[in-house]
Amino acid sequence: MEVIAKYYVETDLPIEKAAEAIAAEQSTGTWTEVERERLASDLAARVVRAEGNFAYVAFPEELFEAGNIPQYLSVVAGNLFGLGALKKVRLLDVIFPQRLVEAHRGPRFGIKEARKILGVFDRPLVGTIIKPKVGLSPKDTAEVAGQAVRGGLDLIKDDETLTDQSFCPIDERVEAVMAELSKVEDETGKKAFYAVNVTSGAEEILERAEEVVGRGANMVMVDVLTTGFSAVEVLARGVKVPIHVHRTMHGAFTRDRRHGISMLPISRLVRMAGGTNLHTGSYLGKMAGDREENDSCRDALREEWYGLRPVFPVASGGVHPGMVRPNLDGYGTDCIIQAGGGVHGHPSGTTAGATAMVQAVEAWVAGVTTEEYARSHKELDAALKFWSR
Ligand code: 3PG
Repeated sequence: MEVIAKYYVETDLPIEKAAEAIAAEQSTGTWTEVERERLASDLAARVVRAEGNFAYVAFPEELFEAGNIPQYLSVVAGNLFGLGALKKVRLLDVIFPQRLVEAHRGPRFGIKEARKILGVFDRPLVGTIIKPKVGLSPKDTAEVAGQAVRGGLDLIKDDETLTDQSFCPIDERVEAVMAELSKVEDETGKKAFYAVNVTSGAEEILERAEEVVGRGANMVMVDVLTTGFSAVEVLARGVKVPIHVHRTMHGAFTRDRRHGISMLPISRLVRMAGGTNLHTGSYLGKMAGDREENDSCRDALREEWYGLRPVFPVASGGVHPGMVRPNLDGYGTDCIIQAGGGVHGHPSGTTAGATAMVQAVEAWVAGVTTEEYARSHKELDAALKFWSR
């Protein structure tokens, strides 16, 4: 069996030659012939197809160390990005054979398991990122989290730059937020996840996650591109809570549609590694991605894949209630839609902002336009007016 990688390439070389250069650099070759190259010929990658700006390269499965995600990336997404002969090159997709996928356990908590914890089965989940992202004390963070859940949200999360700074120590924050969420649950019956950002160094991350789970956290968050895929895998194996996967730094290589790496291979690797939720980009919002790429990430996270549990795509970034519909039209029911500013910036505050987001989701589920639903839902009405100024 082989691993097939699809690349977009811009080059002055004939495309076949460019594809061969990728195949050689990423397997047994280099820029010139070397003495014992023939001895390694069983491991040489081959060009399957090269036409227009697209190159398909097949790598023998034996080139990959099963279970080692960082090594998979070194093969399909390694030195090739620096090859002078290629003006632009983008890794668009990777098809992994069964044996490599099955070398990973995937999510301990997938969509079904996460929904079961919340008791929410038939609609997209709605979340928020606490804002301001840094500067709040544990007590203030807890207060904002409680206000958001009172508005009906399913998930509250830290933002990417909040970890364990002195203004908001993680242990105190987790205890304060979980105490507030349990108070809200006692009063209203509403359950919610709190995704605590445990992003930290290799020696620290599992211990930190175990510590916050011991203090009551019911979800942890990790930034996969700064910590690495192995960090997600270590967390998925090590802690018994769902894992929210953020992707800070992604724009450095996902933004240019002609160079870098698309979110699709990242999505496949996060599912292998065991994330429960993954930020995949929004259809409308401040970091909106390409429609086709969002669609393909959605499918890669949710379709049958050698038995690995499905993962929630997360639409996030610059979203407000007026943007809920296009995102849900794209991602469908099994997704998470999140807003930070679009909740806490509501003219009547966080609870009203959360309520407006939930109402926008209700409108989508009911098949009613957001504007029509807003006529009988004042929080949504205020949000639409406020953000259409
Ligand atoms: C994210 O992590 O997606 C952003 O922090 C979202 O924040 P925003 O909704 O205020 O853009």
